[in-house]
Amino acid sequence: CKPTSSVCVLDSKDAAPCPEHTFQSIPGPKNWPLLGNLIDILRRGGLEKQHQTVMDYHKKFGKIFRMKMGSFESVNIGAPCLLEALYRKEGNYPQRLEIKPWKAYRDMRDEAYGLLILEGKDWQRVRSTFQQKFMKPTEVVKLDGKINEVLADFLNRIGDVRVNGKINDLYFELNKWSFETICYVLYDKRFGILQENANEEATDFITAIKTMMNMFGKMMVTPVSLHKSLNTKTWQNHTAAWDCIFNTAKIYIDKKLKRHSNGETNGFLSDIYHNCPLTKKEMYAAIAELQIGGVETTANSALWVIFNLSRNPHAQDKLLKEIREVVPPGQVPCAEHIKNMPYLKACLKESMRLSPSIPFTSRTLDRDTVLGEYSLPKGTVLMINTQALGSNEEYFDNGKQFIPERWLENKSSINPFAHVPFGIGKRMCIGRRLAELQIQLALCWLVRDYKIVATDYEPVEAIHTGTLVPNRELPVAFICR
Ligand code: HEM
Repeated sequence: CKPTSSVCVLDSKDAAPCPEHTFQSIPGPKNWPLLGNLIDILRRGGLEKQHQTVMDYHKKFGKIFRMKMGSFESVNIGAPCLLEALYRKEGNYPQRLEIKPWKAYRDMRDEAYGLLILEGKDWQRVRSTFQQKFMKPTEVVKLDGKINEVLADFLNRIGDVRVNGKINDLYFELNKWSFETICYVLYDKRFGILQENANEEATDFITAIKTMMNMFGKMMVTPVSLHKSLNTKTWQNHTAAWDCIFNTAKIYIDKKLKRHSNGETNGFLSDIYHNCPLTKKEMYAAIAELQIGGVETTANSALWVIFNLSRNPHAQDKLLKEIREVVPPGQVPCAEHIKNMPYLKACLKESMRLSPSIPFTSRTLDRDTVLGEYSLPKGTVLMINTQALGSNEEYFDNGKQFIPERWLENKSSINPFAHVPFGIGKRMCIGRRLAELQIQLALCWLVRDYKIVATDYEPVEAIHTGTLVPNRELPVAFICR
């Protein structure tokens, strides 16, 4: 019973692990004292290229490997069977990797934790407060009116800022669109960020999310306590970014709750506030995190699907045909139309397989667990490598190519645990349905009005800055149909 990294064995509940299949025997890159394999990671392009490094390690060491970035040690999994085994063993309160910098900020400012960092029963209490509104399909489809209202402005904006079909900083424009949508959903309030003279508060908020995401990554591999006690630039920027996020969220929550007490009892926050088991402080944190979760991720996934369609005109033509068949001319696309648009859904799925916004999520084991051939102790951090799974030829034929048809024709041969861009199990992304509806509707509007063309065919690489972003302005143009 020699440990292998390539064989994947699903164990039974009572299977006793072979003695040598311990945590220590999991393969991985050379582990130096204090540094772990940080030097190798830096040599391969650093944190910005860590998604690529992880994929290379999977090729070298197999479906499971161990790595250590400074003081942070993790076990990486990149096989559907291991993910399925993990899912089947999931307890009531799955945990992600502790994000110490975020907690340090909240503790310093005496703010609460939201869904992204809560654990145990508190996490479940907050999750169940929002679960119904976000995860129940019949609730989410009701949001199509609001989503479309923002999309109408977004399309006007695209029309206004196009120069020879090109849009300067398309990613920022998409961030503004997703920000406007999530705020409208959460606070029942339009910020008007897509208007020419956009309000500074909203653009500051978007910048603050980016800064916070960039800064916390650095403090995950070097002790946050050190950054805090030395008051490093990283800590200062991280603090200022969170201050901006919390201040903005609080202002808009308070305004909405004031309107609520004055009788305006419709809308998302009013529905949640009614019989709400959360304190005001908990509401602030939960809503601020929903807002954070919903802006860059959605914009990023929309950006990559736009890119993938620009490079695959044949797929785009098929999509246009479907849109024209399902949405009558002059009608606004709505959630009801989307139900009859399998190719649209397949395009988004395929794009998220090739270019997932979040290339990995994590779980911290809350008890000793046997996974595959290995016995892992309580406290082990597991990294679930979404991108490595989605780009593995073993699970996806011609995996480097954009083939939406694979989700329609060979659907049953695709292992669902090989495609997890929104995570898995009880802790999967709570905004998934909203994000999908938003991007699907956006594609209907965009592809119907514009031919999205590639302006060059040079490679576009992804770099990791919390999300996977392109390393240059996307070479795309929007040509009126
Ligand atoms: C969690 C991806 C949109 C709010 C997550 C996770 C992923 C993810 C990978 C971790 C799941 C896990 O650990 O299993 C995405 C992507 C999005 C998106 C790719 C867009 C395409 C949204 C939106 C919202 C949101 C629109 C807000 C409405 C959250 C929250 C969590 C989360 C609050 C933590 C959930 C929990 O731990 O209970 N998301 N997300 N996300 N997401 Fe999203």
